Amino acid sequence: MRVSVFSTKAFERESLGRVNRSAGHDLVFREERLTAGTAPLAAGSECACLFVGDSADRAAIRALRDAGVRLLALRSAGFNHVDLDAAAEMGMTVARVPAYSPHSVAEHAAALILALNRKTHRAFNRVREQNFSIEGLMGFDLCGKTVGVVGTGKIGEAFARIMLGFGCRVIAFDPAPSETCVQAGVKYVEIGALWRESDVIALHCPLTPQTRHLVNAGAFAAMKPGAMLINTSRGAVVDARADIDALKSGRLGALGIDVYEEEDNLFFRDLSSEVIQDDTFVRLMTFPNVLITAHQGFFTREAVDGIAQTTLGNISAFEQGGVDPENLVGASHSAGAAAAPPPRTGGRTGGEPGRTG
Ligand code: NAI
Repeated sequence: MRVSVFSTKAFERESLGRVNRSAGHDLVFREERLTAGTAPLAAGSECACLFVGDSADRAAIRALRDAGVRLLALRSAGFNHVDLDAAAEMGMTVARVPAYSPHSVAEHAAALILALNRKTHRAFNRVREQNFSIEGLMGFDLCGKTVGVVGTGKIGEAFARIMLGFGCRVIAFDPAPSETCVQAGVKYVEIGALWRESDVIALHCPLTPQTRHLVNAGAFAAMKPGAMLINTSRGAVVDARADIDALKSGRLGALGIDVYEEEDNLFFRDLSSEVIQDDTFVRLMTFPNVLITAHQGFFTREAVDGIAQTTLGNISAFEQGGVDPENLVGASHSAGAAAAPPPRTGGRTGGEPGRTG
């Protein structure tokens, strides 16, 4: 099948190309990000393959359909960048990679916590300038602290297990609590208690209408003074302006983010010679207790290979008449249908990279 791969990065050409040696699709790598304006580039392709920065809004999907595209193959777990209602109306199948090494993102969240706590990012710069003073670099023992996990799916569970390994008390909020997490020692609480009790809060929920700006001024007011917030989920789960107020007042003690609400205009490119127009983001970059990475949580060898294998597997399955239903995303996902799913009864582990890879 001819596939237009939008927003292709060099590292993906290698992994997709390697996996495609056995899949045998005609991959057309494009650096352009999908928008309504670039969608006609897919003319002649039955599949458009998208990454998280692509914008599959109604206009883009209409243009893709007019170009002959019938399948949107997402190289991601998240699908908030796709208008699923429009896709369903226009007869477009949407397939994603529901799972790929959850350890990649969970371990990155842990790395942000450790770096922020011990101020490794600042120590690195000091030592390079032969400043060997440790003034201002004091952290705290993570052991014995309370870590609050919002969303205990595949990544949240892997993260909770890491924090339990550090000797933390782990509490969590999820509308669908996981029995395996409870067995591992996680205690489920209401969201208000999670804000109040946590020394460190980590977000691992999807972006849905229910979670948009879940962390806002009210949540910061409820948090422990000096708490640390880690967001590797989706930027819009947090109100970035409220972040700035909470950092300025000291209510928020440290912030680690791998995602940002307006990241589509920033991440995955070299803007070192540009003037950044997003004043909120630029302000966030100025705080010494803020550590920002540019959506690299997924970026491990194992995860990238897993993404390539599942994506090309979805395309092959579509060609042969049936994508695994677990990998399909339908319009039912668009209105926050996951708001109150039934409780899970186990069977999921924190580490199933093999399922996708
Ligand atoms: P998952 O689907 O396995 O788990 C998500 C969990 O969030 C589920 O247990 C669900 O019940 C829960 N949830 C849903 N609504 C909630 C709410 N209102 N409050 C609290 N919990 C809620 O997803 P997975 O694989 O663990 O990924 C989580 C998120 O991580 C993705 O949706 C994506 O946004 C983000 N992600 C970030 C990456 C990065 O590179 N930074 C890479 C991959 C995923």
